[in-house]
Amino acid sequence: MPTTLIEPFRIKSVEPIRMTTRSEREGMLAQAKLNPFLLRADDVLLDFLTDSGTGAMSAKQWGAIMEGDESYAGARSFFRLEAVIRKLTGYAHLIPTHQGRAAERILFSVAAKKGDLVPNNTHFDTTRANLEFGGVEAVDLVIREGLEPQNPHPFKGNIDLDRLEALLKKDGARVPFGMMTLTNNSGGGQPVSMANLRACSELLRRHGKPLVLDVCRFAENAMFIKLREPGYADRTVESIAQEMFSLGDGCTMSAKKDGLVNIGGFIALKDDRWVEAARNLLILTEGFPTYGGLAGRDLEALAVGLEEVLHEDYLRYRLRTAEYMGERLKAGGVRIVEPTGGHAVYLDAKAFLPHLRPEDYPAWALSAALYLEGGIRGVEIGSVMFGKRRDDGTETYHTMELVRLAFPRRVYTQSHFDYAAEAICELKAKAAAVKGVRLTKQSRFLRHFTAEFRWA
Ligand code: F0G
Repeated sequence: MPTTLIEPFRIKSVEPIRMTTRSEREGMLAQAKLNPFLLRADDVLLDFLTDSGTGAMSAKQWGAIMEGDESYAGARSFFRLEAVIRKLTGYAHLIPTHQGRAAERILFSVAAKKGDLVPNNTHFDTTRANLEFGGVEAVDLVIREGLEPQNPHPFKGNIDLDRLEALLKKDGARVPFGMMTLTNNSGGGQPVSMANLRACSELLRRHGKPLVLDVCRFAENAMFIKLREPGYADRTVESIAQEMFSLGDGCTMSAKKDGLVNIGGFIALKDDRWVEAARNLLILTEGFPTYGGLAGRDLEALAVGLEEVLHEDYLRYRLRTAEYMGERLKAGGVRIVEPTGGHAVYLDAKAFLPHLRPEDYPAWALSAALYLEGGIRGVEIGSVMFGKRRDDGTETYHTMELVRLAFPRRVYTQSHFDYAAEAICELKAKAAAVKGVRLTKQSRFLRHFTAEFRWA
C-alpha cells in the first residue's frame, strides 16, 4: 500500500505562473519599497502571503454559485447558509458580513465600549486593531509554551487559565466577554485543545462573561483535536467542531479561511444578546440582514464550503502539507515554529539571521530576501506587525520574529512545496549576506500593509 498522501482532488481549471529572474525581482521589490504587500501578484511565483480568500473552490461550489438567489430581502441563499451554520454551531442567529474584520467591527461596536478589556489566547492583528480603535484594551494570554518556538507542546494555542482567572478577579468589571482564536494564527497556527476551551468557557461563565470564538480555522483546529487529544480519535471532525462551538456563546468568522471561499464572513450568536444592535449596525454599514455585504452566490458557495471543509481526507492532506514543508525545512537546517500549525509554516527569523538585531527587523528582512531568492512571498509576523512607534519616536519590539508561509487551500501541489523548500534552504546557506531593513514610512494602524523600507 503506497504511503504518499496525495492531494485529494483533481485539477479542472488552471492558472499560469509567470517565471521571473532574480534581477527582475530585485527591481520589482525595490519598486515595492521592500514591502511584499506592495508587489503585484503576477510578479510572485509562489504566493504564501496568506491562506485567506486565496483557496480554490470546488466544482460543487461553482455549481452552487449559479443557484444564488440575489433577492435583496429574504433570499433563499441566506436560509440555506443559516441552516448549515445552525447545524454546525448550534447558534440561532446568523449575521453575514463581507469578511472577518467587518464581523469583528460590528460585534465589538455593540458588545464592548471604551475602557473595556478583552482577553484572548492571541488577538489577530485585525482583531486587536478593531478593539483598540474603539478604545478597548486587547490582552493576549497564550500559555508560556506558545511563545517558545521550539516547544513541542501539542496545543500551543491554549490560553493560560491562571492568568485569565487573575485578570477576571482584578479587572473583571472591565471585561465584556472573553475570546479564543481557533487556531491561534499569530502564535503559529497552533490549535487549542477541547479541555482548555472547556475550562476557559467555564471560567468565564463563573464570572458571568460570555465567550466569543474567532473561528477562521475551526476545521483545522478540530482535526488537530482528533489527531492529538486523547478521547477524540474515533469522533468525526464535524462532531468535534460542534462540541467546540457548544462551549462558546457566539463567534466571528472570516469565511475566507475554513469557509473555503474567496470572500465572506459572519457573526453567529447563540442567544438574543447583541443581535438586534448588531443587525442595526449591519444595515448601516454592510447591507440588509439576509445578505450583509455579500451576494446571494457568495452565501451559496460558503454553505457548500463549510460542509466540504469537514471532509477528513481533505483535512488530513491539509495538515500534512504544513507538516511536510516543516520536515523538509528542518532537514535543511532551518528553524521553524514547532510543531507545524494547520495553515502555515513559520520560519524563526532570529535563528535564520542571527547577525541581525531587533532594530534590523529580522523577520521583515527575511521575507524580502525570500522573494529575491525564490520569488516566494511570505508575511512578517514580528516587530513591524506587532511593534509600535511610541509618540516619543522610540520603538517597541515583538518577542518573536517569524515569517509566515501560509498555504492557500487546494491551490499548490507537492512540487511547488518542494521548490519552496529548496529555495529556502539555499537562502539559509548564504544567510550571513542578508542585511537588515529600516522603516522609511509608516501609518498609525496596521502599519505593515503600507510601510516602506530601505536596506540597512
Ligand atoms: N481572525 C483571524 C484569526 C484571522 O487570521 C483573520 C485574518 C481575521 C480574524 C480577519 O479576517 O481578513 O476576513 O477580515 N487573517 C488573514 C491572514 C488576513 O492572512 O491570516 P478577514
